[in-house]
Order: sequence, then structure tokens, then C-alpha cells
Amino acid sequence: MDSGEVPAHSSLVLPKPIPDLAAEEFHLFQALVLRESGIHLGAKNRAMLVSRLWKRLRALELNSFASYYRRVKADPQEMVLMLDCICTNETHFFREPAAFDCLRTRVFPEWAADADTGKRGKTLRVWSAACSTGEEAYSLAMALLTCFPPAAGWKIEVLGTDLSTKVLARASAGVWPVEKISGVPVEYQRNFLLKGFGPEKGKIKAVEELRQVVRFQRLNLTREPYTVTGPFDLIFCRNVLIYFQWETKIKVVDSLGKHLFPTGYLFLGHAESLHGVADKLQFVAPKVFPSLRSPMARGGALCILQRRDHTVRD
Ligand SMILES: C[S@@+](CC[C@H](N)C(=O)[O-])C[C@H]1O[C@@H](n2cnc3c(N)ncnc32)[C@H](O)[C@@H]1O
Repeated sequence: MDSGEVPAHSSLVLPKPIPDLAAEEFHLFQALVLRESGIHLGAKNRAMLVSRLWKRLRALELNSFASYYRRVKADPQEMVLMLDCICTNETHFFREPAAFDCLRTRVFPEWAADADTGKRGKTLRVWSAACSTGEEAYSLAMALLTCFPPAAGWKIEVLGTDLSTKVLARASAGVWPVEKISGVPVEYQRNFLLKGFGPEKGKIKAVEELRQVVRFQRLNLTREPYTVTGPFDLIFCRNVLIYFQWETKIKVVDSLGKHLFPTGYLFLGHAESLHGVADKLQFVAPKVFPSLRSPMARGGALCILQRRDHTVRD
């Protein structure tokens, strides 16, 4: 057959063409996504929106974005699924290693010294806000369990939260493709991760000791009040503020500050510098931890804040 025609008896099904997303429809989704998640979709995100929502249209057998919009507005469960599609979930273990270097060299020794002198207790409460598939939360847990072993009386609690239910399910499972292991220091690989074999080949899994200290819940950073059990010694909120508009970033940073202990630290991603914007927070890095500002600091400049009602240590 060289005519290019499909014979009448063929079982071949041609793929459906992706429907057009009209400018007004794009604006409707843009406003909806902004309202529901704080995520700002610029004009350059239009193609991304089409390809991600197209999956939902196909699953629901809808043939226009207008009908999908009506569906999402009427169905809270579909709203959750739409936000799952919109969110960009890229993450890895020990991402931006300078942050973990800073914990190891500055923050953890401070906590240990304060516990030794009775200035603080031995419970450490840490929050990975916008944790995606959990690598950040588990990285924090590995670092904490290593420096503050439960056998020495420490109690570690790591909370991971995200807007996307799809990633939270994966985070709770504590299972990742084996390629992810390359970001994990060898000592931690040995102590905290199991390599799958047989049907589980190609996967890694967090050991029970690690899973016991980490828990996950859905939380929208743009919706207060935050239903979390704080205050926290440490909050990581990295690589999510980039999706928000300026006022939303400020609001989220201020809200997170309310959940910090006065001595606690808020770590932002290095692309998310917000100099001079948070009323109740002040920068401790790169200002006060200058050694970590050097070009040698792996992973870029650090952006760490503390509450203003705490006197910064030198
Ligand atoms: C790129 S990942 C960052 C993961 C991790 N913090 C890191 O730095 O590797 C961004 C995450 O932010 C989440 N997110 C987006 N909007 C959010 C919101 N309004 N509230 C909570 N999480 C949100 C997404 O679902 C996604 O998992």
C-alpha cells in the first residue's frame, strides 16, 4: 500500500489532534491557576499548559479546553488533578549542596552546643515546604539522623508538604529510581538507602529508621492558615517561590517566618533571593555566613533568613 490511505478494515486509530487553546481560554486558566496555587503562568507557558492539560482532556474524553475549564470549575477533585499536572516537580537529593554544607558546618554545631549548655532541648523539628517527591525531606532527615542520633537522646521530626497530591504519594512511599542515588553521599547511601532486587531492581528505598522520622501532608503555601505543627528549627522552601509573583513570594516568606522558632533558620533556593522584602526576617547568609559566600560554595549563593526578634550570631 503506497497511497498513504488507511484501508476501511484497518484497526489503526489515528491520534486525536490537540484542540486549540484560544487566547481567552488561556487567560481563564491563567487566572484559575494563579488563584488556586499562586503559580503565575506567563505567555511563554502557553505551550506547556496545552501539553499538560491535554492529558486530562484525553483521560476525560473531552474535545475542547473550554469544556475542560467548565469541568475543573465544577469538580474539586479534578481541580486537584489539574494542579498535579501544572506543578513542575523536578528535585533531587542534596540539591544545592551549599545549603547542606551550611547545615553541617554552622547550624548543626550551634544546635549541638546549645543542647550541651541546656539552652535548647533535644527535639529538632524541620519542614521541607514544597517537598515534591520527598528527596529534600529525606536528605534533611539523613543529615539530621547522622549528626543527632536518637541513641543520644535526640528526637528528629521532618515534615514534607506540597500542593501536588501525586508527588506526595511518591514521597510517602519513599521509593525512587536508582539513578537518584548519585546525589546521595556514600556514607548516607550505606546507612539509609536499600537497593531493590528482583522485581524491585532499578529502585531505591528509604530504610525504616529514615521513614519513621519523615511524614508528608498536602499544604498550599498560598493559603493561610498553615495547618502544621510548629514552630520549626529549620524550614527549607526552595525552588517554588520562582513560580510566584512578587507579592505572593513576600507573603509566603512572611507566613513561613511565623512558623519558625526565634532561633530557627529559613533556607530559600539560591535563585530566590528576596533582599529587603521580608519585614520580620533578616538575612544571615550570605551576610553573616561569609565563608559560604565564596565561589567555592557548591551550588551557588545561599539565601538564609532568621527572625528579626533573634539576635544574629557571628
Ligand atoms: C521544583 S519543585 C521543588 C522541590 C524541592 N523543594 C527542591 O528544591 O528540590 C517545586 C514544588 O513546589 C510545589 N508547589 C507549587 N505551588 C505550590 C503551592 N502553592 N504550595 C505548595 N507547593 C507548591 C510543586 O508541586 C513542586 O513539587
